[in-house]
Amino acid sequence: MKQLLIVWHSQFGGTEQMAAAARDSALDVPEVEVVYMRARDAGVAELLRCDALLVATSENFGSLSGMTKDFFERVFYPCEHRVEGKPYTVIVCAGSDGAGAMLQTDRIATGLRLRKVLPGVVYKSGLTAQPQVVSAAVLAQCAELGATLAAGLSAGIY
Ligand SMILES: Cc1cc2nc3c(=O)[nH]c(=O)nc-3n(C[C@H](O)[C@H](O)[C@H](O)COP(=O)(O)O)c2cc1C
Repeated sequence: MKQLLIVWHSQFGGTEQMAAAARDSALDVPEVEVVYMRARDAGVAELLRCDALLVATSENFGSLSGMTKDFFERVFYPCEHRVEGKPYTVIVCAGSDGAGAMLQTDRIATGLRLRKVLPGVVYKSGLTAQPQVVSAAVLAQCAELGATLAAGLSAGIY
């Protein structure tokens, strides 16, 4: 069975809602196991085992969140040359921008030679450092992303 790993970090709940929407739609795809983990709990074993990776992060200080970066810092060298070609994509929850988080996540993933197979989702909430309810339209984008990534795995496209 193919496995989709969703690694996420959220301080105020926005990214968590987006990651959960991607997870829920991916769970409907047959022949794909979905592993949904906070960034602090995910590590080398999970990245090596998975067949595709979805990273969901808030944008902090113009980059991926510290906990998401911590995940990559822990897995990078142990996984270097062992995950090349694995498909991935990214969800970003930002206050007003999001481009930096997407760019820096892509730079790290490129270093691991992961393969970005879908463009990802950037959501600008307009809110900084406070709880929020992510709109149904944005959650639908995340759901589509999760389902598409999982369906590609299931069909053997990636
Ligand atoms: C320390 C800190 C730094 C932030 N830096 C940025 C930033 O550089 N660009 C941006 O658009 N939003 C920034 N934000 C806003 C967060 O991206 C926004 O609050 C987001 O919704 C948080 O996601 P979460 O709800 O999953 O925690 C920052 C928030 C915090 C707490």
